[in-house]
Amino acid sequence: MKKILVTGGAGFIGSHVVRRFVNNYPDYQIYNLDALTYAGNLENIADVEKQSNYTFIKGDITDADFIDDLFQKERFDAVIHLAAESHVDRSITDPLAFVKTNVIGTMNLLNAAKTIWNAGKAQLNGAKDNFENKRFYHVSTDEVYGSLGATGLFTETTSYDPNSPYSASKASSDHFVRAYGETYGLPFVITNCSNNYGPNHFPEKLIPLFINNIINHKPLPVYGDGKYTRDWLYVIDHAIAIDLVFHKGKNHQTYNIGGFNEWQNIDLVKLLCEKMDEKLGRKQGESEQLISYVKDRPGHDLRYAIDSSKINKELGWKPTVTFEEGLSKTIDWYLSNEEWLKNVTSGEYQNYYSNQYE
Ligand code: NAD
Ligand code: TYD
Repeated sequence: MKKILVTGGAGFIGSHVVRRFVNNYPDYQIYNLDALTYAGNLENIADVEKQSNYTFIKGDITDADFIDDLFQKERFDAVIHLAAESHVDRSITDPLAFVKTNVIGTMNLLNAAKTIWNAGKAQLNGAKDNFENKRFYHVSTDEVYGSLGATGLFTETTSYDPNSPYSASKASSDHFVRAYGETYGLPFVITNCSNNYGPNHFPEKLIPLFINNIINHKPLPVYGDGKYTRDWLYVIDHAIAIDLVFHKGKNHQTYNIGGFNEWQNIDLVKLLCEKMDEKLGRKQGESEQLISYVKDRPGHDLRYAIDSSKINKELGWKPTVTFEEGLSKTIDWYLSNEEWLKNVTSGEYQNYYSNQYE
Protein backbone atom coordinates (compact mmCIF):
# COMPACT_ATOMS: atom_id res chain seq x y z
CA MET A 1 0.00 0.00 0.00
CA LYS A 2 1.50 3.29 -1.14
CA LYS A 3 0.76 6.31 1.01
CA ILE A 4 0.39 9.44 -1.09
CA LEU A 5 0.00 12.92 0.30
CA VAL A 6 -1.92 15.25 -2.01
CA THR A 7 -1.92 18.87 -0.84
CA GLY A 8 -4.68 21.26 -1.89
CA GLY A 9 -7.07 18.46 -2.81
CA ALA A 10 -10.15 20.50 -1.87
CA GLY A 11 -9.28 23.12 -4.49
CA PHE A 12 -10.03 23.20 -8.18
CA ILE A 13 -7.30 21.05 -9.77
CA GLY A 14 -6.52 19.11 -6.60
CA SER A 15 -10.09 17.81 -6.37
CA HIS A 16 -9.80 16.26 -9.84
CA VAL A 17 -6.42 14.76 -8.98
CA VAL A 18 -7.72 13.29 -5.70
CA ARG A 19 -10.81 11.83 -7.39
CA ARG A 20 -8.72 10.25 -10.13
CA PHE A 21 -6.19 8.71 -7.74
CA VAL A 22 -8.78 7.45 -5.22
CA ASN A 23 -10.87 5.84 -7.96
CA ASN A 24 -8.09 4.48 -10.16
CA TYR A 25 -5.64 3.28 -7.54
CA PRO A 26 -7.38 1.28 -4.81
CA ASP A 27 -3.94 0.10 -3.61
CA TYR A 28 -2.92 3.65 -2.75
CA GLN A 29 -3.99 5.41 0.41
CA ILE A 30 -4.66 9.00 -0.61
CA TYR A 31 -4.26 11.64 2.10
CA ASN A 32 -5.77 14.98 1.14
CA LEU A 33 -4.17 17.76 3.18
CA ASP A 34 -5.94 21.08 2.83
CA ALA A 35 -6.27 24.18 5.02
CA LEU A 36 -9.71 24.92 3.53
CA THR A 37 -8.94 28.53 2.72
CA TYR A 38 -11.57 30.46 0.76
CA ALA A 39 -10.51 28.35 -2.27
CA GLY A 40 -10.90 24.98 -0.56
CA ASN A 41 -14.29 23.33 -0.82
CA LEU A 42 -14.92 19.79 0.39
CA GLU A 43 -18.06 19.64 -1.73
CA ASN A 44 -15.65 19.36 -4.67
CA ILE A 45 -14.76 15.83 -3.59
CA ALA A 46 -17.84 14.80 -1.63
CA ASP A 47 -18.22 11.78 -3.95
CA VAL A 48 -15.01 10.12 -2.68
CA GLU A 49 -15.07 11.04 0.99
CA LYS A 50 -16.49 7.69 2.13
CA GLN A 51 -13.99 5.57 0.20
CA SER A 52 -11.67 3.52 2.37
CA ASN A 53 -8.50 4.57 0.55
CA TYR A 54 -9.23 8.26 1.17
CA THR A 55 -8.35 10.33 4.23
CA PHE A 56 -8.94 14.03 4.66
CA ILE A 57 -6.61 16.03 6.90
CA LYS A 58 -7.37 19.65 7.70
CA GLY A 59 -4.06 21.45 8.10
CA ASP A 60 -1.87 24.29 7.00
CA ILE A 61 1.37 23.73 5.08
CA THR A 62 2.81 26.94 6.55
CA ASP A 63 2.88 25.28 9.99
CA ALA A 64 6.29 23.53 10.01
CA ASP A 65 5.75 21.65 13.30
CA PHE A 66 2.42 20.31 12.13
CA ILE A 67 3.91 19.19 8.80
CA ASP A 68 6.92 17.53 10.49
CA ASP A 69 4.65 15.65 12.91
CA LEU A 70 2.35 14.56 10.10
CA PHE A 71 5.25 13.16 8.05
CA GLN A 72 6.66 11.41 11.16
CA LYS A 73 3.30 9.82 11.83
CA GLU A 74 2.24 8.84 8.32
CA ARG A 75 5.59 8.33 6.58
CA PHE A 76 4.25 9.11 3.11
CA ASP A 77 5.84 7.46 0.10
CA ALA A 78 5.12 10.36 -2.21
CA VAL A 79 3.82 13.91 -2.27
CA ILE A 80 1.76 15.57 -4.99
CA HIS A 81 1.87 19.21 -4.02
CA LEU A 82 -0.90 21.47 -5.31
CA ALA A 83 -1.79 23.60 -2.27
CA ALA A 84 -1.20 27.24 -3.10
CA GLU A 85 -2.58 30.70 -3.22
CA SER A 86 -3.48 30.68 -6.89
CA HIS A 87 -5.14 33.92 -7.98
CA VAL A 88 -3.00 36.64 -9.60
CA ASP A 89 -5.37 39.49 -8.62
CA ARG A 90 -5.19 38.49 -4.95
CA SER A 91 -1.39 38.33 -5.17
CA ILE A 92 -1.36 41.98 -6.21
CA THR A 93 -3.23 43.06 -3.08
CA ASP A 94 -1.63 40.60 -0.61
CA PRO A 95 1.75 39.33 -1.92
CA LEU A 96 2.94 38.13 1.48
CA ALA A 97 0.16 35.52 1.72
CA PHE A 98 1.62 34.06 -1.49
CA VAL A 99 5.13 33.92 -0.07
CA LYS A 100 3.85 32.22 3.07
CA THR A 101 1.89 29.46 1.39
CA ASN A 102 3.66 29.03 -1.93
CA VAL A 103 7.26 29.46 -0.77
CA ILE A 104 7.39 28.70 2.97
CA GLY A 105 4.67 26.06 2.70
CA THR A 106 6.58 24.30 -0.08
CA MET A 107 9.80 24.54 1.95
CA ASN A 108 8.10 22.91 4.94
CA LEU A 109 6.98 19.99 2.78
CA LEU A 110 10.44 19.66 1.22
CA ASN A 111 12.12 19.66 4.63
CA ALA A 112 9.73 17.10 6.06
CA ALA A 113 10.06 14.82 3.02
CA LYS A 114 13.84 15.08 3.04
CA THR A 115 14.01 14.28 6.76
CA ILE A 116 11.64 11.34 6.69
CA TRP A 117 12.96 9.81 3.50
CA ASN A 118 16.53 10.06 4.70
CA ALA A 119 15.82 9.02 8.28
CA GLY A 120 16.00 5.30 7.62
CA LYS A 121 19.40 5.63 5.95
CA ALA A 122 21.45 4.84 9.03
CA GLN A 123 19.13 2.03 10.09
CA LEU A 124 19.33 0.56 6.62
CA ASN A 125 23.04 0.34 7.24
CA GLY A 126 24.68 1.35 4.05
CA ALA A 127 21.63 1.11 1.83
CA LYS A 128 22.36 3.21 -1.21
CA ASP A 129 19.66 5.77 -0.82
CA ASN A 130 16.44 5.80 1.06
CA PHE A 131 15.07 8.20 -1.52
CA GLU A 132 14.50 5.22 -3.77
CA ASN A 133 10.89 4.83 -4.87
CA LYS A 134 10.02 8.17 -3.33
CA ARG A 135 8.72 11.13 -5.29
CA PHE A 136 8.07 14.79 -4.60
CA TYR A 137 5.78 16.05 -7.35
CA HIS A 138 5.48 19.84 -7.49
CA VAL A 139 2.58 21.21 -9.52
CA SER A 140 3.41 24.58 -11.02
CA THR A 141 2.39 27.06 -13.66
CA ASP A 142 3.57 28.38 -17.02
CA GLU A 143 3.36 31.88 -15.51
CA VAL A 144 6.88 31.42 -14.08
CA TYR A 145 8.23 32.00 -17.60
CA GLY A 146 6.81 35.52 -17.76
CA SER A 147 5.17 36.92 -20.84
CA LEU A 148 5.56 36.07 -24.54
CA GLY A 149 5.27 38.54 -27.37
CA ALA A 150 3.10 37.82 -30.37
CA THR A 151 4.99 34.64 -31.28
CA GLY A 152 6.93 31.81 -29.63
CA LEU A 153 6.15 29.14 -27.06
CA PHE A 154 7.40 28.36 -23.55
CA THR A 155 9.59 25.25 -23.48
CA GLU A 156 11.13 23.53 -20.46
CA THR A 157 14.34 25.49 -21.06
CA THR A 158 12.77 28.94 -21.26
CA SER A 159 14.30 31.22 -18.61
CA TYR A 160 12.19 32.06 -15.61
CA ASP A 161 10.98 35.67 -15.74
CA PRO A 162 7.96 35.98 -13.43
CA ASN A 163 6.02 39.26 -13.40
CA SER A 164 3.28 38.93 -10.78
CA PRO A 165 3.72 38.21 -7.07
CA TYR A 166 1.85 34.94 -7.74
CA SER A 167 4.23 33.82 -10.47
CA ALA A 168 7.26 35.03 -8.50
CA SER A 169 6.19 32.89 -5.54
CA LYS A 170 5.63 29.86 -7.76
CA ALA A 171 8.98 30.43 -9.50
CA SER A 172 10.65 30.57 -6.10
CA SER A 173 9.04 27.32 -4.99
CA ASP A 174 10.05 25.64 -8.27
CA HIS A 175 13.65 26.73 -7.64
CA PHE A 176 13.63 25.31 -4.12
CA VAL A 177 12.28 21.98 -5.33
CA ARG A 178 15.00 21.80 -7.95
CA ALA A 179 17.63 22.89 -5.41
CA TYR A 180 16.59 20.11 -3.00
CA GLY A 181 17.01 17.69 -5.88
CA GLU A 182 20.49 18.95 -6.71
CA THR A 183 21.70 19.49 -3.15
CA TYR A 184 20.16 16.62 -1.23
CA GLY A 185 19.23 14.21 -4.00
CA LEU A 186 15.52 14.55 -3.30
CA PRO A 187 13.67 12.81 -6.14
CA PHE A 188 11.33 15.34 -7.72
CA VAL A 189 9.33 16.14 -10.80
CA ILE A 190 7.85 19.53 -11.67
CA THR A 191 5.13 20.28 -14.16
CA ASN A 192 4.36 23.76 -15.45
CA CYS A 193 0.86 23.95 -16.81
CA SER A 194 -1.17 26.54 -18.68
CA ASN A 195 -4.55 27.99 -17.59
CA ASN A 196 -7.02 25.31 -16.54
CA TYR A 197 -10.80 25.47 -16.80
CA GLY A 198 -13.61 23.08 -15.95
CA PRO A 199 -15.87 21.94 -13.08
CA ASN A 200 -15.14 23.14 -9.50
CA HIS A 201 -13.29 26.26 -10.66
CA PHE A 202 -13.69 29.03 -8.11
CA PRO A 203 -15.69 31.90 -9.63
CA GLU A 204 -12.97 34.51 -9.28
CA LYS A 205 -11.07 33.28 -12.35
CA LEU A 206 -12.10 34.43 -15.83
CA ILE A 207 -14.23 31.53 -17.12
CA PRO A 208 -16.26 30.60 -13.99
CA LEU A 209 -16.64 34.26 -12.95
CA PHE A 210 -18.07 35.15 -16.34
CA ILE A 211 -20.35 32.07 -16.40
CA ASN A 212 -21.73 33.11 -13.02
CA ASN A 213 -22.11 36.73 -14.10
CA ILE A 214 -23.88 35.78 -17.33
CA ILE A 215 -26.33 33.57 -15.39
CA ASN A 216 -27.04 36.54 -13.09
CA HIS A 217 -27.08 39.24 -15.82
CA LYS A 218 -24.08 40.94 -14.22
CA PRO A 219 -21.33 42.88 -16.08
CA LEU A 220 -18.36 40.97 -17.56
CA PRO A 221 -15.26 43.00 -16.61
CA VAL A 222 -12.70 42.54 -19.40
CA TYR A 223 -9.31 43.93 -18.32
CA GLY A 224 -7.63 46.45 -20.63
CA ASP A 225 -8.31 45.94 -24.33
CA GLY A 226 -9.06 42.21 -23.94
CA LYS A 227 -6.21 41.30 -26.31
CA TYR A 228 -4.34 39.26 -23.69
CA THR A 229 -3.81 35.66 -24.69
CA ARG A 230 -3.94 32.48 -22.62
CA ASP A 231 -3.54 28.79 -23.49
CA TRP A 232 -6.51 26.90 -21.99
CA LEU A 233 -6.56 23.29 -20.85
CA TYR A 234 -9.53 21.25 -19.59
CA VAL A 235 -8.81 20.37 -15.96
CA ILE A 236 -9.39 16.64 -16.36
CA ASP A 237 -6.71 16.57 -19.05
CA HIS A 238 -4.38 18.18 -16.51
CA ALA A 239 -5.28 15.49 -13.95
CA ILE A 240 -4.53 12.80 -16.56
CA ALA A 241 -1.15 14.42 -17.24
CA ILE A 242 -0.35 14.56 -13.51
CA ASP A 243 -1.19 10.86 -13.18
CA LEU A 244 1.11 10.07 -16.11
CA VAL A 245 4.02 12.20 -14.91
CA PHE A 246 3.64 10.88 -11.37
CA HIS A 247 3.98 7.28 -12.59
CA LYS A 248 6.20 7.61 -15.65
CA GLY A 249 7.97 10.98 -15.51
CA LYS A 250 11.73 10.94 -15.09
CA ASN A 251 13.26 12.10 -11.83
CA HIS A 252 14.69 15.63 -11.65
CA GLN A 253 12.75 16.65 -14.75
CA THR A 254 10.32 19.37 -15.67
CA TYR A 255 7.43 18.83 -18.07
CA ASN A 256 5.34 21.59 -19.64
CA ILE A 257 1.63 20.87 -20.00
CA GLY A 258 -0.60 22.92 -22.28
CA GLY A 259 -3.57 22.66 -24.59
CA PHE A 260 -2.11 24.06 -27.84
CA ASN A 261 -5.23 26.18 -27.46
CA GLU A 262 -4.59 29.92 -27.45
CA TRP A 263 -7.39 32.42 -27.11
CA GLN A 264 -7.41 36.17 -26.82
CA ASN A 265 -9.57 36.96 -23.81
CA ILE A 266 -12.12 38.94 -25.78
CA ASP A 267 -12.63 36.15 -28.35
CA LEU A 268 -13.00 33.60 -25.58
CA VAL A 269 -15.52 35.82 -23.76
CA LYS A 270 -17.55 36.28 -26.95
CA LEU A 271 -17.59 32.51 -27.55
CA LEU A 272 -18.65 31.97 -23.95
CA CYS A 273 -21.46 34.51 -24.34
CA GLU A 274 -22.66 32.82 -27.53
CA LYS A 275 -22.71 29.37 -25.91
CA MET A 276 -24.37 30.65 -22.76
CA ASP A 277 -27.13 32.37 -24.79
CA GLU A 278 -27.70 29.09 -26.62
CA LYS A 279 -27.84 27.00 -23.43
CA LEU A 280 -29.91 29.50 -21.45
CA GLY A 281 -32.35 29.96 -24.32
CA ARG A 282 -31.54 33.67 -24.52
CA LYS A 283 -31.50 35.76 -27.69
CA GLN A 284 -28.11 35.52 -29.48
CA GLY A 285 -26.08 38.61 -28.61
CA GLU A 286 -27.83 39.20 -25.29
CA SER A 287 -24.92 38.18 -23.02
CA GLU A 288 -22.37 40.06 -25.14
CA GLN A 289 -24.13 43.25 -24.04
CA LEU A 290 -22.77 42.54 -20.56
CA ILE A 291 -19.14 42.98 -21.66
CA SER A 292 -17.57 45.96 -19.98
CA TYR A 293 -13.97 47.02 -20.55
CA VAL A 294 -12.37 47.94 -17.21
CA LYS A 295 -9.03 49.20 -15.92
CA ASP A 296 -6.17 46.81 -16.69
CA ARG A 297 -4.50 44.50 -14.17
CA PRO A 298 -1.06 45.91 -13.22
CA GLY A 299 1.81 43.83 -14.61
CA HIS A 300 -0.62 41.96 -16.86
CA ASP A 301 1.23 39.34 -18.92
CA LEU A 302 0.42 39.70 -22.61
CA ARG A 303 0.58 36.12 -23.76
CA TYR A 304 1.20 32.60 -22.46
CA ALA A 305 1.60 29.64 -24.80
CA ILE A 306 3.05 26.25 -24.04
CA ASP A 307 5.06 23.82 -26.09
CA SER A 308 3.98 20.43 -24.69
CA SER A 309 5.97 18.33 -27.12
CA LYS A 310 8.22 16.86 -24.39
CA ILE A 311 5.38 15.27 -22.43
CA ASN A 312 3.77 14.26 -25.71
CA LYS A 313 6.89 12.54 -27.08
CA GLU A 314 8.15 11.02 -23.83
CA LEU A 315 4.89 10.04 -22.17
CA GLY A 316 2.36 10.07 -25.00
CA TRP A 317 0.13 12.71 -23.36
CA LYS A 318 -2.14 15.00 -25.30
CA PRO A 319 -5.44 16.70 -24.47
CA THR A 320 -8.48 14.43 -24.89
CA VAL A 321 -11.09 17.13 -25.40
CA THR A 322 -11.24 20.07 -27.78
CA PHE A 323 -11.85 23.54 -26.37
CA GLU A 324 -15.39 23.59 -27.80
CA GLU A 325 -16.18 20.30 -26.02
CA GLY A 326 -14.47 21.30 -22.79
CA LEU A 327 -16.16 24.68 -22.65
CA SER A 328 -19.53 23.11 -23.38
CA LYS A 329 -19.03 20.49 -20.62
CA THR A 330 -17.94 23.25 -18.25
CA ILE A 331 -20.99 25.42 -18.90
CA ASP A 332 -23.25 22.36 -18.54
CA TRP A 333 -21.59 21.54 -15.21
CA TYR A 334 -22.17 25.04 -13.83
CA LEU A 335 -25.76 25.10 -15.08
CA SER A 336 -26.55 21.77 -13.46
CA ASN A 337 -24.68 22.60 -10.24
CA GLU A 338 -26.32 25.88 -9.37
CA GLU A 339 -26.40 24.80 -5.74
CA TRP A 340 -22.57 24.52 -5.75
CA LEU A 341 -22.32 27.97 -7.31
CA LYS A 342 -24.83 29.40 -4.84
CA ASN A 343 -22.98 27.88 -1.87
CA VAL A 344 -19.66 29.23 -3.12
CA THR A 345 -20.90 32.73 -3.83
CA SER A 346 -22.83 32.94 -0.53
CA GLY A 347 -19.97 31.48 1.54
CA GLU A 348 -22.18 28.58 2.68
CA TYR A 349 -19.59 26.05 1.35
CA GLN A 350 -17.32 26.90 4.26
CA ASN A 351 -19.73 25.13 6.63
CA TYR A 352 -19.27 21.82 4.81
CA TYR A 353 -16.31 20.81 6.98
CA SER A 354 -18.12 21.34 10.28
CA ASN A 355 -21.24 19.60 8.96
CA GLN A 356 -19.33 16.53 7.76
CA TYR A 357 -16.30 16.21 10.02
CA GLU A 358 -16.92 17.81 13.40
P1 NAD B 1 -7.10 26.62 -5.88
O1 NAD B 1 -6.89 28.01 -5.39
O2 NAD B 1 -8.41 26.27 -6.51
O3 NAD B 1 -6.87 25.58 -4.69
C1 NAD B 1 -5.82 25.68 -3.80
C2 NAD B 1 -6.10 24.74 -2.64
O4 NAD B 1 -4.98 24.84 -1.72
C3 NAD B 1 -7.36 25.09 -1.84
O5 NAD B 1 -8.09 23.92 -1.58
C4 NAD B 1 -6.83 25.71 -0.57
O6 NAD B 1 -7.68 25.50 0.55
C5 NAD B 1 -5.50 24.98 -0.40
N1 NAD B 1 -4.54 25.78 0.38
C6 NAD B 1 -4.22 27.08 0.21
N2 NAD B 1 -3.33 27.48 1.14
C7 NAD B 1 -3.07 26.39 1.89
C8 NAD B 1 -2.21 26.15 3.02
N3 NAD B 1 -1.48 27.13 3.52
N4 NAD B 1 -2.17 24.91 3.52
C9 NAD B 1 -2.92 23.91 2.99
N5 NAD B 1 -3.76 24.08 1.97
C10 NAD B 1 -3.84 25.30 1.42
O7 NAD B 1 -5.89 26.34 -6.88
P2 NAD B 1 -5.85 25.50 -8.23
O8 NAD B 1 -6.28 26.39 -9.33
O9 NAD B 1 -6.53 24.20 -8.04
O10 NAD B 1 -4.29 25.29 -8.37
C11 NAD B 1 -3.65 24.16 -7.78
C12 NAD B 1 -2.17 24.21 -8.09
O11 NAD B 1 -1.98 24.20 -9.50
C13 NAD B 1 -1.49 25.47 -7.57
O12 NAD B 1 -0.23 25.11 -7.08
C14 NAD B 1 -1.36 26.36 -8.80
O13 NAD B 1 -0.25 27.20 -8.70
C15 NAD B 1 -1.19 25.31 -9.89
N6 NAD B 1 -1.67 25.70 -11.23
C16 NAD B 1 -2.93 26.20 -11.39
C17 NAD B 1 -3.37 26.52 -12.68
C18 NAD B 1 -4.76 27.03 -12.92
O14 NAD B 1 -5.09 27.39 -14.06
N7 NAD B 1 -5.64 27.07 -11.93
C19 NAD B 1 -2.52 26.32 -13.77
C20 NAD B 1 -1.24 25.81 -13.55
C21 NAD B 1 -0.83 25.49 -12.27
P1 TYD C 1 -7.35 34.48 -14.69
O1 TYD C 1 -8.48 33.53 -14.85
O2 TYD C 1 -7.29 35.34 -13.47
O3 TYD C 1 -6.01 33.64 -14.87
P2 TYD C 1 -4.46 34.16 -15.01
O4 TYD C 1 -4.38 35.56 -14.59
O5 TYD C 1 -3.76 33.25 -14.07
O6 TYD C 1 -4.11 33.94 -16.44
O7 TYD C 1 -7.34 35.47 -15.94
C1 TYD C 1 -7.27 34.99 -17.27
C2 TYD C 1 -7.18 36.19 -18.18
O8 TYD C 1 -8.42 36.92 -18.10
C3 TYD C 1 -6.10 37.16 -17.79
O9 TYD C 1 -5.55 37.75 -18.97
C4 TYD C 1 -6.83 38.24 -16.99
C5 TYD C 1 -8.20 38.26 -17.65
N1 TYD C 1 -9.33 38.61 -16.76
C6 TYD C 1 -10.23 39.62 -17.14
O10 TYD C 1 -10.11 40.24 -18.21
N2 TYD C 1 -11.27 39.92 -16.30
C7 TYD C 1 -11.46 39.27 -15.11
O11 TYD C 1 -12.41 39.59 -14.35
C8 TYD C 1 -10.53 38.23 -14.74
C9 TYD C 1 -10.68 37.50 -13.43
C10 TYD C 1 -9.48 37.93 -15.61
